[in-house]
Amino acid sequence: MREQDFEPANYVGQVDEGKVTYRSPSNIALVKYWGKKEHQIPANPSISFTLESCATTTTVSFTKLKSKAKDYSFELSFEGKPKEDFKPKIEVFFNRIEPYLPFLKEYHFIIETSNSFPHSSGIASSASGMSALALCLMHLEMELQPDLTIEYFNQKASFLARLGSGSACRSIEGPLVQWGKHETVGSTDLFGIRYPYKVHPVFQEYHDTILLVDKGQKQVSSTVGHDLMHNHPFAEQRFAQAHENLTKLRTVFENGDVETFIQIVESEALTLHAMMMTSLPYFILMKSNTLEIINTIWAFRKKTGTPVCFTLDAGANVHVLFPKAEKEKVDRFIADELVVFCENGQYICDSVGYGAKKLIDKNE
Ligand code: DP6
Repeated sequence: MREQDFEPANYVGQVDEGKVTYRSPSNIALVKYWGKKEHQIPANPSISFTLESCATTTTVSFTKLKSKAKDYSFELSFEGKPKEDFKPKIEVFFNRIEPYLPFLKEYHFIIETSNSFPHSSGIASSASGMSALALCLMHLEMELQPDLTIEYFNQKASFLARLGSGSACRSIEGPLVQWGKHETVGSTDLFGIRYPYKVHPVFQEYHDTILLVDKGQKQVSSTVGHDLMHNHPFAEQRFAQAHENLTKLRTVFENGDVETFIQIVESEALTLHAMMMTSLPYFILMKSNTLEIINTIWAFRKKTGTPVCFTLDAGANVHVLFPKAEKEKVDRFIADELVVFCENGQYICDSVGYGAKKLIDKNE
């Protein structure tokens, strides 16, 4: 596929108005995307678990304008209230995707969005938010061009979501999605694909409990962080390592090799933060409680042999990953030993999910 393949042919349908709702999940990267080129092309391939509970629900109502407008015409609300400060981000997104959705200036859009997780949780909502919006817009394209295949629909939704936020392209399907060109997995830089090889049942039911260590605004945005990988002294080695880790994961996923999985996933999380600590300017997003949690997980794993591990996003929160069979034991461990390190004792229990869903309007 090339970018031009997502430029539509002349639409055959005529749509005056309509409404659609999508619920799109968040995802947690196992091999991290950190560093990008122009047009949201990742510097290295990445893979993530799609989540189930952490999600954004977006409703888009659209009405055809009498004539094509000069600017985008849209209203935006978040959790029932108008949200002016999100608008510039949506404008940038619309600008990037307009070559692929040429109808954008022909409609007025009412975008209503809400998250299943608390807004101030420090959980990035851009992946679930951008993917939900991309799916709603693809629904309109599908009405204008009803012969689109499901495969094309999903690929283009992921392609558009990527232009909003890189990691968003991994939120359309599940349970494992790979994004970025890789020598053996036939993945592409343009959109995320459902992992095409055998995945052992243990990884199809993995759990992720997100410990909210610091619910505040991030000091450094992902976009700034990605930028710091340009001229980073360790960038080339890091990008090569991501490729190698993805190659290793193929047998890990196939065989259900949880031990090697833990090693790769924890190393990826620490490497991500090591890249932040060794860029110029350098920064640290982990908090002291992040380290307390990591050490407590390591001690528990050593003492009990329970295959529980952690990963981190570009923030202080800790994702605790473990097989479903360990849930009871790990839940008790979290309640007894880790909750003390969470802000206001808050954490979110999630597990691997199977991707975004269109919600049916009860009045339809
Ligand atoms: C650390 O997708 O948020 O979560 O493309 O600039 O929107 P933009 O960045 P974003 O970066 C996510 C970085 C990460 C790792 C990952 O999800 O792979």
